[in-house]
Amino acid sequence: SAADKGGWSSFMAKEISEEPDAVANTIRGRVEGGQVVIPELAGLDELFVDINRIVIIACGTAAYAGTVGTYAIERWAGIPVTVELSHEFRYRDPVIDARTLVISVSQSGETMDTLMAVRFASESGAKTLSICNTQGATIARESDAVVYTHAGPEVAVASTKAFTAQITALYLFGLHLARVRGTQTPEFLASQVEELQAVPDKIASILGASEKIAQLAHWMADSRAVLFLGRHVGYPIALEGALKLKELAYIHAEGFAGGELKHGPIALIEPGQPVFVVVPSPRGSAILHPKVISTIEEIRARGARVIAIAEQGDAAVLPSADEVIPIPLAGPLFEPLLAVIPLHIFAMELATAKGLDVDQPRNLAKSVTVE
Ligand code: G6P
Repeated sequence: SAADKGGWSSFMAKEISEEPDAVANTIRGRVEGGQVVIPELAGLDELFVDINRIVIIACGTAAYAGTVGTYAIERWAGIPVTVELSHEFRYRDPVIDARTLVISVSQSGETMDTLMAVRFASESGAKTLSICNTQGATIARESDAVVYTHAGPEVAVASTKAFTAQITALYLFGLHLARVRGTQTPEFLASQVEELQAVPDKIASILGASEKIAQLAHWMADSRAVLFLGRHVGYPIALEGALKLKELAYIHAEGFAGGELKHGPIALIEPGQPVFVVVPSPRGSAILHPKVISTIEEIRARGARVIAIAEQGDAAVLPSADEVIPIPLAGPLFEPLLAVIPLHIFAMELATAKGLDVDQPRNLAKSVTVE
């Protein structure tokens, strides 16, 4: 009913509006004296200090949150981290052992493929940690440890606020692990904690300026295909933007790593082809920023219509893109939590413009509890 939606037109609109709270509530109670201390992990250090690698497993949107997490955890905790789809992981005889930590990411905690992969990991002797949004879910109960996301109940089939909460929880875990393993100075870790704590207000400011994104979605309602490009942590955000557009608006959409463009996707560029580009900060990514700008120039030379998601005040992007959606300044690892917001809004608005039910897309289920 409209009451359950709190006056919003859909659960999805309500849940996107709750993304700042999803991040803030997931951080709450887990910072002490400027450092991340996750109470649920107290006394469990032995699960994390002797490990020599981390494998993140998940499906769908949760797998893209996991991919974002790989960059941050590896950077902070100095340990190899990979991500894999649960259903691929469990059927390929992966080499894992007692020194492997398998982190599952699941909003529902009931996704069958992820559950079976967690069981496989436990049977192989690996340590298991669950990042989960649902208290007492099966995956949480069957894992050695659990760090809950506090996004609140998510009703719309396609995940939005759970995604930002999952990235937040993975970041908290990475900062906790870096502290426990002593891989970074307390000063550096405190600076990262501050960045994370600043995210909710920055997301709120994007939500407050969403009119332009809605207008863009209306203009683009007849698009047959939309491409998404990103590099580094912008790459999984490109994948997430494409997934949301497929799920909600039934538009063929693909996400690509910017560096891969020349190896195939550039053949898809023809006059008028819309391409979203996630642009890294010119301050934070001095090496990647000019590379992404030159990618924009290459595809525009071939007629692409470029919609750039870029740091506000990024002067280099203005002359080269057709549209710029500004996001607030943030450190490189924190940009994904901001850049994804316009993409969530865009997919929802485009689906709405097409008259589709954004909460219940065809053929999809909120939680896939069968194989
Ligand atoms: C379904 C949902 C997606 C979700 C995926 C994983 O496909 O439609 O939105 O990302 O399952 O769900 P989980 O509950 O494991 O995060």
